[in-house]
Amino acid sequence: MAERDRAEVVSEFTTERLSVYLRCLGWLESQGQTTISSHELASRFHLNSAQIRKDLANFGELGIRGVGYNVAKLKRHLITTLGLDHTRKIVIVGAGNLGMALADYRGFHGSGFSIAAMFDSDPARIGMSSRSGVPVLDRAELPRLARQIRIEIGVIAVPAEAAQQIYDLLVENRICAILNFAPARLRPRHAVKLRNVDLRINLEVLSFFLKSSEEQPHRRT
Ligand code: NAI
Repeated sequence: MAERDRAEVVSEFTTERLSVYLRCLGWLESQGQTTISSHELASRFHLNSAQIRKDLANFGELGIRGVGYNVAKLKRHLITTLGLDHTRKIVIVGAGNLGMALADYRGFHGSGFSIAAMFDSDPARIGMSSRSGVPVLDRAELPRLARQIRIEIGVIAVPAEAAQQIYDLLVENRICAILNFAPARLRPRHAVKLRNVDLRINLEVLSFFLKSSEEQPHRRT
């Protein structure tokens, strides 16, 4: 299947699951396991084996009947499919509490992502670095850096009222994959992929679960 057709077939939900499979395979490989069946993969990581087979069937015959999947080969395949076979440069706009924590997050290291810089508008922050050495540059410098290096992902970590302005700035500088942490509904632009992360929404979902359980205690399992 051509790369473009494949991207159309693979939904965002599937992509999220591929990312989960990749993480599981990385762990299995670190434990020295060389093959795994969809059934075992499902039971080890509380996944659905039929779903695994269906998701991986999009990519041709990867498993061998009766043997399962070759862990290293499947992992390599998922890395290529998810476009993680080269390092993608990220910038973070907003070098406050969240921006600094993200810049120093060890989970990004060696995972196909590299944080090139943070940007801020506060003169007191410009010129600082995160603990791991990510520099904080003046927001006005973003276009210059975007011309010098290929920035592929922009992270928005500014207050909600500044988020749309930063989104527009990132898009104007040809950054068309954006992860937004600000609690703001952003006006989307064509051909720009926006993902919102909001811990409060997750907490509210949990609160709703608790409320429902409190109202119908017999339903709690
Ligand atoms: P903070 O106040 O510590 O940092 C915000 C930074 O953005 C500051 O350094 C400020 O100078 C900078 N800034 C403000 N306007 C700017 C602009 N126009 N251009 C460039 N820089 C600008 O805030 P914190 O705690 O780091 O939170 C950042 C954002 O992330 C907020 O919108 C907050 O609500 C959100 N947040 C979201 C979470 C989530 O679960 N999605 C969790 C925590 C925070």
